[in-house]
Amino acid sequence: MKSGSESVDFKAHGFPERYDCFMALLDVPSAADFHQKEVLVAGGAGFLGSWLSETLLAHGSSVTCIDNLATGREANISHLRTHKNFRFEKIDISDGIMDRHFDMIFHFASRASPEEYQQHPVETMLANSIGTRNILELAAKYNSRVIYASSSEVYGHPDVVPTPESYWGHVNPIGPRSCYDEGKRFGEALCMAYLRAYNLDVRIVRIFNTYGPRIRGDGAYARAASRFINQALRSEPLTVYGDGSQTRSFCFVTDTINAILRVATSDAARAEVFNIGNPREITILTLAQLVEQLAGGSHGVKYGPLPEDDPPRRCPDISKARSILGWEPRVGLEEGLSQTMRWFRENELPRSNT
Ligand SMILES: NC(=O)c1ccc[n+]([C@@H]2O[C@H](COP(=O)([O-])OP(=O)(O)OC[C@H]3O[C@@H](n4cnc5c(N)ncnc54)[C@H](O)[C@@H]3O)[C@@H](O)[C@H]2O)c1
Repeated sequence: MKSGSESVDFKAHGFPERYDCFMALLDVPSAADFHQKEVLVAGGAGFLGSWLSETLLAHGSSVTCIDNLATGREANISHLRTHKNFRFEKIDISDGIMDRHFDMIFHFASRASPEEYQQHPVETMLANSIGTRNILELAAKYNSRVIYASSSEVYGHPDVVPTPESYWGHVNPIGPRSCYDEGKRFGEALCMAYLRAYNLDVRIVRIFNTYGPRIRGDGAYARAASRFINQALRSEPLTVYGDGSQTRSFCFVTDTINAILRVATSDAARAEVFNIGNPREITILTLAQLVEQLAGGSHGVKYGPLPEDDPPRRCPDISKARSILGWEPRVGLEEGLSQTMRWFRENELPRSNT
C-alpha cells in the first residue's frame, strides 16, 4: 500500500457493502504505517472503538479489541468477528489487562454520555485512572505507542471559545460531571507522567462531540444528536435541556477517525495533545430544528431543566490539527446527520416506526 492520500478498498477486505458509503469517506495519508501492526483497541466494541477497529483492519493491522461491554455492543463488531486478524476479549481494563506486545494501543474505554457516566461515577473514574495506568504499564513494558481518548470536557466551562489546546480548563472538581472531566484530566496527566518518567510515546486526542452510525440513541446512552434523531424518527417531540441556547459543535465520525489515525502516525504528534472536532458551533435548539427538517416533519420541542454544570458553549479551535496533521473535517452537518439518520432507520428502529 503506497503512502499519500488514498482510499482503502474496504470491500476487498471483506467489509459488508452497506458500510461502503461511510468507508469511502476515510482516507489516511500514512495508511501504510498500520500495515502488519499489532494494535490493541480498548473500548473497541463502542461507537468510536468499532470504527477504529474496522478501519485499522482494513489498513492491514491485526486488531485485538478489549471491552467490558458496559456501553459497547457486540453488534458493533459482529461483522469483524470472522476476520482472521481480529480478536475480541471481554475485559474490564480497571481489573487488569493481558500481558502481550502491541505496537500501538488506542485507549478508548470509558463511558462517554453525560447521563450514563453520572449514573456510574466510580467506574468512569476507575477506567480513566486505574484503567489508564494498566494500559500505560503494558505500553511501558513493550514500548508501545499509546493514543489516549480524552475529551473536550477537560475544558469544563471555558472562558475562551473556540478553545485552543493551550487553555487549561475551568472545571468543577466536585460537581456531578467531575467523574468524567477530572477522570480525563487525570488520564491525560498520567500519560504525560509516563512520557516524562519512561519516555513513553503517548499522544492525546481531546475529542469534541462526535456522532454517526453506531452511536447509541437509547436512554441514558444517548447524546444530543442521537437523541434528537431517534425522537424525530419516532415522531416524538425533541427533548431540549434549558432554553437550547447552549452551543456545541458536531463532528461526523469519519472525520474524527481520520484525525485520530493521523495523530497515531504523525511523527510530530508524539507527546502532543490535539483538539479533534468540527469548528461549526451551533445552538442545541438549531440542531433540534435541523434534525426535524431532515426527518421531514415537526413534532415540536419539549423543554427540560438544564443539567447541573452543563457547559454553555463548546467549540474547538482546531488550528493545531490543521497545521500539524493537515486535517480538517470534510463532512457537513446536514450530510452527516442524514447519513446517521439513514443508519438509525435501517438498523435501530422498530419497523412500525420507520
Ligand atoms: N463520541 C464522542 O463524542 C466523544 C467525545 C469525547 C470523548 N470521547 C471518548 O472517546 C472514547 C470512546 O467513546 P464512544 O463515544 O465510542 O463511547 P462508547 O460508550 O460507545 O464506547 C466506550 C467503550 O468503552 C467500553 N468500556 C467502558 N468502560 C470500560 C472498562 N472499564 N473496561 C473495558 N471497556 C470499557 C464500553 O463498553 C464501550 O464499548 C471514550 O473514552 C470517550 O470518553 C468520545
